[in-house]
Amino acid sequence: MPSNAERARRIVIERPGGYEALRLVEGEVPAPRPGELRLRVAACGVNYADGIIRMGLYESAKRLHGYPITPGFEVAGVVDALGEGVEGWRVGDRVIGLTLFGGYASHLCLPADRVFALPPRLSFEQGAALPTVFLTAWFMAHRQVHPEPGERWLVHSAAGGVGSALLQLARLAGVEATGVVGAAHKVEAAKAMGARHAIVRGEGDWVAAARALAPSGYHAVFDANGVATLAGSWSLLAPMGKLAVYGFASMLPKDGRVNWLRLAWDWWRTPRFNPLEMTSTNRSVLAANLSFLSAEAPLLRRGMLWLLERFADGRLQPLPVAAFPLLDAAQAHRRIESGQSVGKLVLIP
Ligand SMILES: NC(=O)c1ccc[n+]([C@@H]2O[C@H](COP(=O)([O-])OP(=O)(O)OC[C@H]3O[C@@H](n4cnc5c(N)ncnc54)[C@H](OP(=O)(O)O)[C@@H]3O)[C@@H](O)[C@H]2O)c1
Repeated sequence: MPSNAERARRIVIERPGGYEALRLVEGEVPAPRPGELRLRVAACGVNYADGIIRMGLYESAKRLHGYPITPGFEVAGVVDALGEGVEGWRVGDRVIGLTLFGGYASHLCLPADRVFALPPRLSFEQGAALPTVFLTAWFMAHRQVHPEPGERWLVHSAAGGVGSALLQLARLAGVEATGVVGAAHKVEAAKAMGARHAIVRGEGDWVAAARALAPSGYHAVFDANGVATLAGSWSLLAPMGKLAVYGFASMLPKDGRVNWLRLAWDWWRTPRFNPLEMTSTNRSVLAANLSFLSAEAPLLRRGMLWLLERFADGRLQPLPVAAFPLLDAAQAHRRIESGQSVGKLVLIP
């Protein structure tokens, strides 16, 4: 329980901007409403999307919340108060919480159906690093693509958060995965997460290298780069293959400042897919956005329970995590936007 003098801290973005837009503010420790648990947060996950929210370009942040906004989709910590009517939890339980924004905070009240027991083998940092990237990967892999043993997948940004999660789900399903990474220092990380092969984009022709590894094509390609790789990804699909699109990072800046001219140019030259061609080759495009699935609480809960069962018995492994103090949220954003990070980043309130 918080002492009388204890204050809550959170990061607030008053209006979209560069790294300076992330401000630490203090306030009262919130009281849980009926049906809610209050968590004392030990770690908050950082996602690439948080930077897009800071830049003012994240559609669900604009449509579902607006500014000022506290970013953050996930936390881990301990239960420190129970709202009226909450059953099955005790003060002191170690938990993971799913948030739709608001996660960069020292205390958080969440409805009970967004709270999950943290598997004992995971630290708070590892637990906070898990929900968004693994749920996104689970949704695409198991609700959209439906893997079969022996298939081949190509996974972009394979050493990052979602990429690492996809590689682990591939390994679990008996799928042979090839990872594509943007820098040579990420190759070992991608292989440790389950990539059979790793290709460094920028060292030669990545499409030719991927085709050489799978001449008859890939059953699924997972692409969150957008304009930089989408056409190549599409060209690598086997008949009946599926291109899973879930982000457009290559349109975005690496220095925190939006270049509107470049953004417009990249939007204009992003591939559009032709249903006539898709029909004659049985190839398709799938698309996913976890934050627009937030109303689907039972589905996300099912996905979380499926994932946590596999983390609890060691079939899934926690991602490598780098921690930053909450106060240094800007440093964490710089790091993930640099394109150089491996695994996940978390903030420690
Ligand atoms: N649709 C959804 O529900 C959903 C959910 C979570 C994440 N995402 C998307 O999935 C992608 C990965 O997210 P994450 O949080 O797991 O991040 P991450 O993969 O850990 O880090 C982002 C990675 O994107 C690649 N990248 C490509 N162009 C970039 C650019 N201009 N600036 C910075 N990085 C660039 C870099 O990897 P390489 O250079 O190695 O390719 C970079 O390391 C992001 O695009 C994110 O928006 C979508």
